[in-house]
Formats: sequence, structure tokens, C-alpha cells
Amino acid sequence: MGDIRVETADRVMTIILDRAAKKNAITDAMYGDIAAALTSAANDPAIGAVLIRGEGDDFCAGNDISMFAASAAGEADISTSNVGPFLRALSTFPKPIVAAVTGRAIGIGVTMLLHCDLVYVATDALLSTPFIDLGLVPEAASALLIPARIGHVRSFALFALGEKLSGAEAATLGIANKALAAEDVGAAAAAAARALAAKPLSAVVATKKLMRDADAIEAALVADNAAFIRQLATPEAAAAFAAFAARKGPPA
Ligand code: COA
Repeated sequence: MGDIRVETADRVMTIILDRAAKKNAITDAMYGDIAAALTSAANDPAIGAVLIRGEGDDFCAGNDISMFAASAAGEADISTSNVGPFLRALSTFPKPIVAAVTGRAIGIGVTMLLHCDLVYVATDALLSTPFIDLGLVPEAASALLIPARIGHVRSFALFALGEKLSGAEAATLGIANKALAAEDVGAAAAAAARALAAKPLSAVVATKKLMRDADAIEAALVADNAAFIRQLATPEAAAAFAAFAARKGPPA
């Protein structure tokens, strides 16, 4: 696997976004590899939990923007990319997922957290969802799931004004369990994943299923995917991707 590493120990599969030079921005190949790892973890009775973390200082700078740009230019079709299988594997994953978040979490780097069951975050992490500034709409059912956690007006400020949340704020608002010093996040998340993996698996799986409205999440994914594909074709989106490529835009 190119920019994804998978390690297994103590009934925990750890999926590492391993593209630190690009702030762990996720490419189509990475989506495919994560989807495959999650599918294998779901089917493997020896795995009781999954841990997701980034290599280096940052969790994930979102979708690789060149993938958006290629889709906007008609050079690639995001609707047949690995994004769909990734979102399906993540949003229907039956066992617990734990995330360890430091540094930047942007776009899908935030919205994937809404499908995790425990989230440990660095106090000084920065979470942002600049979809509207990119001419896009929130993906991964986040327009349903973030307001459910933090309410409409705070969610709108994240999506529309591009406001950022610190890790400390994310923990206070219920997007993360705990904010910790950056150097302690990985160990806390790994300990929690090991603890979950040691629990009676069928009871954990049944509890997670009871806690999530699978039909509502699926409907939100279908709706936001259609809106996202429409937005990718707009001149505003093309201009935002070109600005990033030329580094004319402000950092997200
Ligand atoms: N897609 C593709 N490449 C990305 C990326 C992304 N989402 N985020 C960062 N990178 C790359 C940069 O192009 C740069 O590559 P280079 O060294 O080959 O030029 C490298 O990662 C480091 O990023 P850089 O912008 O130089 O670091 P920074 O510290 O100045 O800024 C960010 C970091 C994350 C704030 C900035 O890169 C950014 O805004 N990225 C885009 C985030 C985004 O909008 N994601 C999509 C959300 S839907």
C-alpha cells in the first residue's frame, strides 16, 4: 500500500495516513486502500477495533485537491472513484473506530471523525470544513451529523464562514472525547482502542448499531454526493482549485 500503512496488534487494526509531505491529503488510491483495510477488519473476527491516525504532525488536510480539479476538468469521474467505497466502508463499519487527531484536520479529515466512535484530539489541533470556500458542499453526511452534535448555527459558521475549531473546542462541543497535549494523543487513542477490542465484540457491535441511524446516514450520503458532484462542475469550484494550485488563496 502506497500512502496508507496498516498495522495489527492486540486485536486492533491501525490505519495510518502516511503522506506527511502532503499533510496526509487523501488520494483516490488511499481511499481505496482504506476501504479495503476496513472491509478486511469488518470481516476478521480477530479484529475488535480500528484506530485511525496520521503520520507526522497533521491528521489530514482533506481530499487531495488535484483529484477535485481533475474531476472538475472532466479528466476524472469522482462518482466512480474510491471515495464512494471509502464512505460506505466507513459509515457502515460495524466495529468501533477510534481516531487520534493532531495538527490540521480539514474537510474529510473532520467529516470522517463523525463516523468514529471515540476521538482523541490535540488541544491545539485545528479542525476546519471549508467546503463552501471551495465551491462545494459538506460531504460524508456531515450536514446531518455535525448539526446533530453542535447545532445549526455553529455548524453553519464552520461550513459557510470557514471558522476553525481548536481541539479544545472540539472536545467541549462533543466532536471529540478529550483534548490532550499533542504528544499524548496517540497513546491515549491506542489505549482506548485496545480497551474496546478487549470487550465482548458482539455486545459492542450491537450497541454501535443501536446508537446510529443507519438509514438516515445512508440517505444523507446519497443526497450530499449528488449535490457535491453538481458543485464540482461549477466555475466557482474550478476557480478555487486553480487558486490552490497557484497558491493564491488563503490557507484553509
Ligand atoms: N490536496 C493536495 N495537496 C495538499 C493538500 C490537499 N488537500 N493539502 C496540502 N497539500 C500539499 C501542498 O500542496 C504542499 O505540497 P508541496 O510541498 O508539493 O507544495 C504540501 O501539502 C504542504 O502544504 P502547504 O500548503 O505548503 O503547507 P502549509 O502549512 O502552508 O498549509 C494547509 C497547510 C493544510 C493549511 C494548506 O496546505 C491547505 O489549505 N490545504 C488545502 C486544504 C483543503 O482545502 N482541503 C480540502 C478540504 S475539502
